[in-house]
Amino acid sequence: MIDTDPFATSSAPSLPLSVPGISSATPFPEGFLWGAATASHQVEGGNTNNDVWLYEHVPGTMYTESSGDACDHFTRYRQDIALLASLGLNAYRFSLEWSRIEPAPGEFSAVAVEHYRDVLRACHEHGLTPLVTYHHFTSPQWLIARGGWEDTGTPALFARYCRHVTEELGDLFDIVCTMNEPNLAVLLAEMGMCETEPSQRLGNPTWEGAAAALGTTPDRVAGFQLSATKEAYEVKLAAHRAAVEAIKAVRPAMQVGWTLANSDFHAAPGGEEQVARVTEENNLRYLRASQGDDFVGLQTYNRTVLGPEGPVPPEPGATLNQGGEEIWPWAVGAVVRQAWDALQMPIYVTENGLNTEDDTQRVDFLRTAIGEVGSAIAEGVDVRGYMCWSAMDNFEWVLGYGPRFGIIAVDRSTQERTPKPSAYVLGEIARTNGACL
Ligand code: NOJ
Repeated sequence: MIDTDPFATSSAPSLPLSVPGISSATPFPEGFLWGAATASHQVEGGNTNNDVWLYEHVPGTMYTESSGDACDHFTRYRQDIALLASLGLNAYRFSLEWSRIEPAPGEFSAVAVEHYRDVLRACHEHGLTPLVTYHHFTSPQWLIARGGWEDTGTPALFARYCRHVTEELGDLFDIVCTMNEPNLAVLLAEMGMCETEPSQRLGNPTWEGAAAALGTTPDRVAGFQLSATKEAYEVKLAAHRAAVEAIKAVRPAMQVGWTLANSDFHAAPGGEEQVARVTEENNLRYLRASQGDDFVGLQTYNRTVLGPEGPVPPEPGATLNQGGEEIWPWAVGAVVRQAWDALQMPIYVTENGLNTEDDTQRVDFLRTAIGEVGSAIAEGVDVRGYMCWSAMDNFEWVLGYGPRFGIIAVDRSTQERTPKPSAYVLGEIARTNGACL
């Protein structure tokens, strides 16, 4: 059963006294968007027609488990949206699944479009401003079969899809992210977790298996989030530009941007040059590429400490998240300030959060991280929204369902939703527009 009364649970932590609507000192501007985020493949379930589903299922896959029915959000979205609104949030970031909308090249599904119309309608009925992402890592299998995110034909195909969904759905939202984290693969490559040459995919069972299923070769299997090649940089950039043009042609007033995985790079002794190089490669180069957009979405979880040889493990005794990284809620403040210095462009924090089984850590993390965003705003940085990753525990890609990023727990056998104390804390921060921090 879903508990929609934020104060009807004994697990809700005691909160500072505040009166919604009465302004006390808060740096957050009126109309600031407070929300939580999801992505189609991570929550919907049954996305059998996209590339990640294929990677999950090939023999010897690098995926820990398959996404299966995920959080069954594809059928439960109405309750989920109602629950988010009941907490006090005023925004919801989610993505459209390209492989549902365009199951075959040039063939669009009216049924899938109608589904997302209803998701958008539900947001409006519950007073949530939708932040829509057109591409969040997953692509139709047919796109990958023809070369995916390293093929120069992809930008035009992406723009055609973006044009279609903007024509069909664009009356129901004002803010759109074309694509999610085009620079993630760069960050992963710096951590030694992703190849930078197509030939390095040869012999890897995930790419070999996918290539066999798609009738191509492993070096041509260019999925989005793990493609860190030079070709992928050019293709993603061109695809973003083509998408912006296509969206603006249909809806000139739409606010369009993309979201970047920007980390807060710190130098260990001797790591200064690495920090300068990686900050340029991963953060600044992509920020500059978004000049001319209406906003930039920033997604930051941690700091990354670099020594002369690359990433340095956390100091002994540091408090770690579920991924073994040091918990560092201040990173988001550094990243929004850096983006503002580079661009002077409106910013949405489109993702920020913590993977932990211990929700008290998440509560502390959110208070500190949001406080950092507030301080940056007080200094003059134009941040317009904060979306916590994630609305609910979900499918964390190759890591499966182990990592817990959600403010709402999902029972994997019953799909029952249970808000965690952090959900009420975020709701209270939202209702008071940050005055209760
Ligand atoms: C960024 C990605 O956009 C999202 O899909 C992922 O689950 C989170 N980071 C957490 O790793």
